[in-house]
Amino acid sequence: MMDKKTFAVHSNAAITAIGTYVPERILTNAEMEKLVDTSDEWIVQRTGIKERHIAADNQFTSDLCFGAIDNMIDRYGVHITDVDYIIVATSSPDAVFPSVASQVQAHYGIVNAGAADIQAACAGFAAAIQLANGLLLSGAHRKILVLGAETLSKITDYSDRTTCILFGDGAGAFLMEASYNGQGDVAAVYTKTDGERGHLLYRSSLASAIGEHAIQTNGYIVQNGREVYRWAISHVAEGIQQLLERSGYTTNDIDWFIPHSANMRIIESLCEKTGFTPQQTLSSITQYGNTSAASIPLAIDEGLKSGIVKPGQLMLLYGFGGGLTQAGVVLRWSL
Ligand SMILES: CC(C)(COP(=O)(O)OP(=O)(O)OC[C@H]1O[C@@H](n2cnc3c(N)ncnc32)[C@H](O)[C@@H]1OP(=O)(O)O)[C@@H](O)C(=O)NCCC(=O)NCCS
Repeated sequence: MMDKKTFAVHSNAAITAIGTYVPERILTNAEMEKLVDTSDEWIVQRTGIKERHIAADNQFTSDLCFGAIDNMIDRYGVHITDVDYIIVATSSPDAVFPSVASQVQAHYGIVNAGAADIQAACAGFAAAIQLANGLLLSGAHRKILVLGAETLSKITDYSDRTTCILFGDGAGAFLMEASYNGQGDVAAVYTKTDGERGHLLYRSSLASAIGEHAIQTNGYIVQNGREVYRWAISHVAEGIQQLLERSGYTTNDIDWFIPHSANMRIIESLCEKTGFTPQQTLSSITQYGNTSAASIPLAIDEGLKSGIVKPGQLMLLYGFGGGLTQAGVVLRWSL
C-alpha cells in the first residue's frame, strides 16, 4: 500500500470505462414541421440535425445518468461502489439541489463519495474531465465518476423555431481512476471564458438581467443564434489552436477531433479554421441534436461502437457554449 504522499507524486489519471444513454422517444424533423414553421430541408442545411431523443415526462437528468452508468457497468463490468467523487456536468438538473451527482450517489449506494454538479453549459463535460484529472493528479481522490447529462427538452421553448430545432436529451459517463503505472490519459487542458457575452445564450432563473442586459425570465434556453455562431467560429477556433499548442501536438498527430456538437455548420467551420479534416472529426449532431454536456461522450461512443475509435489514439475534445465559455482536453484513449 502506497502512502498518500507517494501516491500523489506518482498518480496519473486514466479513463477506465465509458457508458452512454439516450431516451427512447425520437423527435424527427418531420414532427418539428408540425410544431413550428420550419422544414426538414432548412434544419438539415443550417444545422445537420435529422432527429433528437426526448426524455419522457417522468424522466429527468438523474434517470439519464443512471442509464449511462448502467450501460458502462454492463459493458466493462466495473465496480462503482468504491468511487470517491462524482461530478455531473449539466444545465438541466432535476432540481438546483440536491445535485444530480447526489442522486447518483444515493441510487448506487456509493457510501464514501463527494458529489457535485458543475454548470459550464456545453463546455461542461470537458470542464468536468479537467476537474477530475486535477483531483486524481493531486492525490485527493482515486476513482471518479464523470458525467455529462441533459434533459434540454424540458427547458426548450417549442414555440421558438430558432432554438427548438437544435436541442436533444442524452447522457454520457466516464470512469476516471488514478493510474499507478505513470501513464496518464490526459495530456493537456485549456479553458477560456467570455462572460461579457453571457447574455447571448442563457437560461434564466432568478434575475431578469445579465450585467447591463435585460433577459427573458421564462426559464427556457434563449439565444442570439447569429452572434453565438460568430463567436464560435472565431473565438472557439482560436481556443482550439491554443490547446493544440499547449499539448505540443499538431492536427496531424490527433486521431480524433471531437468538438461539442452544437451544429454541423459550426463543426465544419471549426475544421476549416483549425486544419482538422471532417474525416478526423467525430460528432453526435445528426442523430441526437445539440445535447450540450452529453454531446462529446455520445460522439466518442458512436465512434467506439462503429469500431473506428481504438486504444492508443489521441483525441482532442473541445466544449463551448453558454457562459460564453470553452474547455478543451487532449487525451490518449485507452479503451
Ligand atoms: C440558429 C441558427 C441555425 C440559425 O441559422 P441562421 O442562418 O443564423 O439563421 P438566421 O437566424 O439568420 O435566420 C435566417 C432566416 O431563417 C429563419 N429561421 C430561423 N429559424 C428557422 C427555422 N427553424 N426554420 C425555418 N426558418 C427559420 C429566420 O426567421 C430568418 O428569416 P428571415 O430572413 O425571413 O428573417 C444559427 O444561427 C446557428 O447555428 N447559431 C448557433 C446556435 C448554437 O449552436 N447554439 C448553441 C451553442 S452551444
